[in-house]
Amino acid sequence: MKIVTNASEMKNLSITYGKAGRSLGLVPTMGALHDGHVSLITTAREHCDIVVTSIFVNPLQFAPSEDFAKYPRPFDKDCATAEKAGCDVVFAPDAKEMYPTGYSTFVDVETITSYLCGANRPGHFKGVATVVLKLFNVVSPQVAVFGQKDAQQCLVIRRMVRDLNCSVRLVFAPTVREKDGLAMSSRNSYLSSDERGQAVFIYKGICAAVSLYGGGERNGAALQGTIAGALSGAPLLSVEYVEIVDMDTVSPVSVLGAPALAAIAVRTKQTKTRLIDNAVLGGTF
Ligand code: PAF
Repeated sequence: MKIVTNASEMKNLSITYGKAGRSLGLVPTMGALHDGHVSLITTAREHCDIVVTSIFVNPLQFAPSEDFAKYPRPFDKDCATAEKAGCDVVFAPDAKEMYPTGYSTFVDVETITSYLCGANRPGHFKGVATVVLKLFNVVSPQVAVFGQKDAQQCLVIRRMVRDLNCSVRLVFAPTVREKDGLAMSSRNSYLSSDERGQAVFIYKGICAAVSLYGGGERNGAALQGTIAGALSGAPLLSVEYVEIVDMDTVSPVSVLGAPALAAIAVRTKQTKTRLIDNAVLGGTF
């Protein structure tokens, strides 16, 4: 497996693969790879000849109060995990390589970013969209794979790809869960053991909504209420949002007539860890 840190080198490598007729798949990550990322790499393998995993903790998508400094960066372990999963190239630029002095261009996907995580993390999706477009331009993948756990991120990137005519096919891979149902996340490592015990209530909330929907409930407030009810069993979780939203506009839905996203974000009370999860009710991404 190759490790590339320079953007021009990565671009040249991608051109070389293209000339040799090999298709490229990109798995954008911020490192601290877990089984969820492994499944993204495995998915990319199924779609392309060459898999590039980017590892870049993107400063643009963190607010000053967030966990940029403490975000885990186990680079050697990540490279071993990526290689074992079938990755061919790790692209790991540093911040100066991505945002050199004088950097001044940003991608702002409007409207759908004013809900959910976008409402609670101002500027976050501008950072995500900017870095993802840069990665698309450097790597020129035919396919890019993202995890459904970051549902709004998937919808924002899909909007950007449509709006800016990006030549990439998006694949959204299902969330990988721990045995008790907690969605895998690099941030799970921050949890205290008591918080980890209660984090399963997020999944219980998701399951409650899926089962109520399965029983025929189409009222947004009722679905929202059942999730909130499940979360009330976990006093160490403070709810940031519980919403039932439209898959295109990301705005709240009062009566479901089309597939809708049930989305949850909580912050834990002891370690202030932010956890998110979701399910699509009545459809897929
Ligand atoms: O999902 C992530 O890890 C990040 O938001 C991404 C897509 C790699 C952009 O930095």
